Amino acid sequence: MAETETPRTPLPPLPPGDRLEVVTSWDADVPYQAWRPQILTPATFRPAAPPHVFAVANQKGGAGKTTTTVELAAAWAAAGYRVRVIDGDHQEAALSAWLLPQYPDGQERRSLRSVFFDECTLAEASYPTRYERIDIVPSGADLQRVEYERPIGAEQALAAALAQEAEEAGGRSPYDVTLIDGAPSLGLVTVAALTAADEVLVPIKVGGLDMKGMASLHRTIRSVQRKTNPKLRVAAVLLTAWDKSGFARELAEQVAGDYPEAAVIPIRRGVRASEAPLAEQPIRLYAPDAAPAADYDQAAAVILPGREAAA
Ligand SMILES: Nc1ncnc2c1ncn2[C@@H]1O[C@H](COP(=O)(O)OP(=O)(O)O)[C@@H](O)[C@H]1O
Ligand SMILES: [Mg+2]
Repeated sequence: MAETETPRTPLPPLPPGDRLEVVTSWDADVPYQAWRPQILTPATFRPAAPPHVFAVANQKGGAGKTTTTVELAAAWAAAGYRVRVIDGDHQEAALSAWLLPQYPDGQERRSLRSVFFDECTLAEASYPTRYERIDIVPSGADLQRVEYERPIGAEQALAAALAQEAEEAGGRSPYDVTLIDGAPSLGLVTVAALTAADEVLVPIKVGGLDMKGMASLHRTIRSVQRKTNPKLRVAAVLLTAWDKSGFARELAEQVAGDYPEAAVIPIRRGVRASEAPLAEQPIRLYAPDAAPAADYDQAAAVILPGREAAA
């Protein structure tokens, strides 16, 4: 695992705040005006245990993928887990800009692209961030080369790199959780992420829904399950920037029907959530009292419980 000389910022537990209720079914008779956001964990939902790999996917830009990756990483690190994030988006202002990899001086800088082109191992491309217990495999514009040069075995490249890393570390990944932040496309990097993952997390922005887009994501997950990763499951759908409206409720009911084994988790809208990336901090540190910080903390505990809860 990556080491660093500079002290890393710890991610403390959150102050107690306004928490969402966790239910196993939603009450369909409540009119939406009276409907409070609740976390749905259907009877078929199973929480994950470490070590675990999540792909955060939705090909729509602005769905909340990067925010979800950063906040869940921060929440799990605060719970004591060793977390690695992999930046699967070649665009600027994505995860690598937010979590700033701490590169050692005088060494060649590796990235996810180097892993796809067999230039280094995943461990060699993992760098500390400025936050305690969070490492990152950075991305860059050159990750796009994967899409048009299609290196041999690209679909399996991440899965193979993770397996090799676990083997070299004595059979178990050196990280408790790996989170792969997705690109706004269903290209080769996304397929490789879905192929490498145990589970998918799907953020959907309330109000930004596009039914065709949801259907193509659904199809992509299905073909990965059939062809490259039969064990893949959808762990949770996160309804990001949740706002009380008839539409939010319809959307929630629709995704609960589409993904019957997944937890459906509203993440309330908050201005401070949209300011946090500019401050280059997780919402958890930037605004620990804000509703989105609390909701992501709760989401993390539902999806992969902390050590105490799991014991
Ligand atoms: N809960 C929230 N409340 C308000 N704004 C949010 C919330 N979650 C995300 N956002 C904002 O929505 C925008 C898109 O989110 P982002 O995570 O970058 O999406 P993606 O990675 O899918 O493109 C960002 O400006 C982000 O700050
Ligand atoms: Mg993003």
